Amino acid sequence: MANRGHTIAVLAGDGIGPEVVAEARKAAEAAGARFGFGLDWVDYDLGADRWLRTGEALPDSVLEELRGVDAILLGAVGRPDVPPGVLERGLLLRLRFELDLYVNFRPVKLYPGVASPLAEVKPDDIDLLVVRENTEGVYVGAGGHVHRGGPAEAATETSIETRAGVDRVLRFAAAKARERAGRLTLVHKTNVLVHAGDLWQRAAREVAAQAGVTLDYAHADAACLYLVTDPGRFDIIVTDNLFGDILTDLGAAIAGGLGTAASANLNPDASPSLFEPVHGSAPDIAGTGMANPVAAVLSVALLLDHLGERAAAAAVEAGAVAALPGAAGYSTQALGDRIATAVAGGGSPH
Ligand code: IPM
Ligand code: MN
Repeated sequence: MANRGHTIAVLAGDGIGPEVVAEARKAAEAAGARFGFGLDWVDYDLGADRWLRTGEALPDSVLEELRGVDAILLGAVGRPDVPPGVLERGLLLRLRFELDLYVNFRPVKLYPGVASPLAEVKPDDIDLLVVRENTEGVYVGAGGHVHRGGPAEAATETSIETRAGVDRVLRFAAAKARERAGRLTLVHKTNVLVHAGDLWQRAAREVAAQAGVTLDYAHADAACLYLVTDPGRFDIIVTDNLFGDILTDLGAAIAGGLGTAASANLNPDASPSLFEPVHGSAPDIAGTGMANPVAAVLSVALLLDHLGERAAAAAVEAGAVAALPGAAGYSTQALGDRIATAVAGGGSPH
């Protein structure tokens, strides 16, 4: 019997979101049954349909309810019939800001049985973590335009970095580095972005010294090159919001694609945090059964780990990883069933 429980809000969202979230839930339920905890799922119908029907991306009343749950699982948001930015800004980014989810934690890991587009890499060669700042930078929405549509049109998009915001994400990354290889790479563009780059660089030196970890540095463009030519040189990358967004798509690509890329939007100091696959809503394959649920399942593993369910998290990750070789031959649901069976029984699905 479950002797403890967790309340999880589910924002399955659009496109393949509901399909992959259903499989992630199965894996989590199997883990709960095996490791003795209960999960209380609370579904929210946020996303394109709700917005088209009511004009609401994230009603204040729902935001207040979400503040009270233990964690949030999000599938994907966005659909071609909703203008770009409406759901991204109005729902996902609003949640990141309002819940102060200042760490976007994205493992980049090549799992056995997954093909990387890089020649001659073995799974051990790609195993790094990207710690992306998640509440500042160009994402803050500071800016505007004048003379829109006319010949004198101008637009600004101001990037805002605060010392407190940079310090706190650096402290998280440095603490992770202490649990791993003891080294941290700051990625920025200090040769051009001299104001924000200087702030990041000084803050990173101080935080690394305090934590007793080694600090490396790479410019963002060079980091793209190294991710392709020598990914093993990185263990933990810490970077700003926009560089982190770009680097983690490249990271997903070298690790075999978005099908296995998981992420955690964390507030390490308060509840709740939000977990989501890195991939989007992929409307082109929605309803076909082709979506890979593994990224969502691995996101649920990060969720369980964050809630302190370490053994369950490890079992869910192991179940997902064991299902990966040959995964393309299975439908979303069939793969989810294999993963849930492995999680429940402790065996491999083979
Ligand atoms: C991501 C996504 C989001 C981002 C979009 C959907 C707003 O690309 O989580 O990486 O840019 O952060
Ligand atoms: Mn992105």
